[in-house]
Amino acid sequence: MFITLEGPDGSGKTSQMEPLAAFLREHGYDVVTTREPGGTPISNQVREILLNRMENTAMHPRTEILLFCASRAQHVEEFIRPQLADGKIVICDRYADSTLAYQGYGHGVDIEVLKNLLNFTTGGLFPDLTLLLDVKAEIGLRRRQKGGEEWNRLDAYAVKFHCRVQKGYHQLVEDEPHRWQVIDAEQSPELVQKEMQEVILNFLSNQNSIN
Ligand code: TYD
Repeated sequence: MFITLEGPDGSGKTSQMEPLAAFLREHGYDVVTTREPGGTPISNQVREILLNRMENTAMHPRTEILLFCASRAQHVEEFIRPQLADGKIVICDRYADSTLAYQGYGHGVDIEVLKNLLNFTTGGLFPDLTLLLDVKAEIGLRRRQKGGEEWNRLDAYAVKFHCRVQKGYHQLVEDEPHRWQVIDAEQSPELVQKEMQEVILNFLSNQNSIN
């Protein structure tokens, strides 16, 4: 089972992931967690290039897309597919939908071109379930600054950009409603966690009764 967490910057995905995995393990599920860009040594080296806004200011948008995809291709083959083949539930913090939301809807790169590229990148591996942690751009960005997290090159885009990203996510949900579950991430972290737990347990128990 392949589950991904998506959302605009500051949606809180990253801090929700480990408690969520621990909860599912308590319920007897064999869960591994990972993140993008990253997840393998090669992918993490590509991550360093992508998030180093101080040195890589001249990066062309096409270069950025291809680096996200390069990092992902390695992650899929070296980590995600083997874990799934081993019967694990893989929970990944960001995946292909981030490229559609950020590079596609955020930067205006043609969505169909990106979809073809993502098919090539992933060898056709897409999530069974995706949770969107939905938060307004301004709230997400404000949280990030308050949280004292490092301000990276990608964070520095304008609020307008993040509004397009959030709208892009909504479009992706509309295009594929069966794969997505939307979580209100403007609630307290405890309530967000509880809702995520319920949605995933429900999904997994439905899967078990289908199989
Ligand atoms: P990261 O520090 O991991 O942030 P977050 O905790 O919000 O996931 O940085 C990842 C940044 O990269 C984030 O701003 C989203 C962006 N991104 C893309 O633009 N395209 C992609 O395909 C991926 C995976 C991430």
